[in-house]
Amino acid sequence: MGGRIHLLPDGVIDQIAAGEVVERPSSLLKELLENAVDASADRIEAEVFGPFPFSLRVSDDGIGMTADEVEAAVRRHTTSKIASAEDLQKLSTYGFRGEALPSIASVSRLRILTRPSGQDLGTEIVVEGGKIQSIGEAGATRGTTVEMTNLFGNIPARLKFLKTPRTEMAHLWDVFHGVAVPGEGISFRMGDGRTEVFYERGELRLERATRHAGEGSKYLVPLSLSSAFFRITGWAGLPHLSRIGASGVHFFVNGRHFRDKGVFAAVREAYRGILPPDRHPVIYLFIECDPSEVDVNVHPAKMEVRFRYGKDLFALVRHAIGEALGEIPASSPVVSSLPGAEVRMGSPPHPNTGAQAWENLFSNSASQSRLFRTGGDASPASEIEGGFGGLRPVAQILGTYILCEGMGGMVIIDQHAADERIVFSRLKDSYLGKNAPVQRWLVPQVVSLPGAGRRERAEVERFLSAVGFLCESFGDNTFKISGGPAILERFDLPRWWEDLGDFLLSQGALPKGIFDADRELWRIACHASLRAGMPLEKEGMRALLSDLDRAFASHSCPHGRPVWVKISAAEMKRMFGRT
Ligand SMILES: Nc1ncnc2c1ncn2[C@@H]1O[C@H](COP(=O)(O)OP(=O)(O)OP(=O)(O)O)[C@@H](O)[C@H]1O
Ligand SMILES: [Mg+2]
Repeated sequence: MGGRIHLLPDGVIDQIAAGEVVERPSSLLKELLENAVDASADRIEAEVFGPFPFSLRVSDDGIGMTADEVEAAVRRHTTSKIASAEDLQKLSTYGFRGEALPSIASVSRLRILTRPSGQDLGTEIVVEGGKIQSIGEAGATRGTTVEMTNLFGNIPARLKFLKTPRTEMAHLWDVFHGVAVPGEGISFRMGDGRTEVFYERGELRLERATRHAGEGSKYLVPLSLSSAFFRITGWAGLPHLSRIGASGVHFFVNGRHFRDKGVFAAVREAYRGILPPDRHPVIYLFIECDPSEVDVNVHPAKMEVRFRYGKDLFALVRHAIGEALGEIPASSPVVSSLPGAEVRMGSPPHPNTGAQAWENLFSNSASQSRLFRTGGDASPASEIEGGFGGLRPVAQILGTYILCEGMGGMVIIDQHAADERIVFSRLKDSYLGKNAPVQRWLVPQVVSLPGAGRRERAEVERFLSAVGFLCESFGDNTFKISGGPAILERFDLPRWWEDLGDFLLSQGALPKGIFDADRELWRIACHASLRAGMPLEKEGMRALLSDLDRAFASHSCPHGRPVWVKISAAEMKRMFGRT
């Protein structure tokens, strides 16, 4: 090596490597928690303490390390997890690079106390700025405790890139949940001096996810679907839970928290028409696949992964969510929006996952009847026999809402939003050719569509008759409509037509394919449904509830407003201080 070009000193190399792995306190916590999981621990505890940028202590009861092992572990590219390049193709551990501990040690003071089983004494090692300060025997329980202090003490410039203590603390909690929620079989605890969170060992990840969702969990519906390559379980949030940012979106693959643009796009796609475009859902997706189908070695902090059958996954995710939300009938085949991405339905590659119990619980039940569940606060909105029809209507309030008892509490239904769903759902059925009765009206209505050309006229006629309207064109852009679907009892045709005209005008030129069928059906439904302010008797309320069961996507109106909200018995208890 000569001239201008020379090999960097090890300490500098470590710090450069550390820049990718150790960006902020939460990235260190992530590495330490993952090491503890990889060490086959049953119990993992984390403590965040000390002044900003915080110190961390992570203890586990895992396999521990001998003195030689721990000395090796803090050196670069030392790992017990892989031995050859082939091993990279089928990773089942979180770690594999042998970079985390040396990286952390190069930017902080690291103290490790560890003892493997079968040894009386443990080892204590202190590393600072990448240099071993001391190593010696020490009393220790089985397992490993890693303590990190003085973060970025030797490179204060890095401190400038940290956000406020509150934000960094929030990241620490996100990382904790990200490892603990999928960490079935391991108990987790974390404390930050103010808050403490536990996940019990026997708690399944689906249960952990609902606890993580907290109050919102009552608006989660279960999802579960498999293809030849993937198996997905989890929870999809109803529109009640939507957020501006993506903070409620959680993906896990084989127990590993990750981000992925493709899966994210599939989620967005599945929620199109359910959530407004600027809102994101709350969702937990646990994806299981053969480790060789997914490459976790594409991102320095292992936050991103690459799937071999990404298109298959996209279709599956979309479908699983659609099914869970009742947008797609539960038994319909998976049809992908992407060419060549047909999903083969088949038995799951890993049938022995913990989600199995849920699968059994929900399989064979129709998609609607699994939406509710009686019971306590943290129980997700799932299965109650009878669905909405099982609710007992108590009264109409404010001329707009139906107050019901059931689902383990009180349910309030927006009558307009509910009826709109019902009418839409029936219109869609007749539009899709499921023959619905048509009724001739006493007084035919004549409407016109100024500015329409021949092509548009033909489209309007085609659409109207597909929905079930009896329609004739008189030329001159005028139509005579003399009947329509029998379900449109309250249809205000002139209002809809006015809306349609306004919409077409607002488009400037008439768009090609002027009818987005769904959009127009929604518009018709809006002008044909029970309005807020219309009085309802008990009988009408009951009819509305049972009709709602037959409608699909019965949780939100097309604007993404919820159809129903629930106040659980536990919440009421709390409100009245009866806890
Ligand atoms: N809590 C722990 N209990 C037992 N062994 C541990 C623990 N933490 C680390 N080790 C050992 O130290 C080695 C180095 O850890 P380190 O995190 O630096 O690398 P890695 O986990 O192998 O890979 P990665 O850099 O991808 O995390 C591990 O391979 C493991 O053998
Ligand atoms: Mg590691």
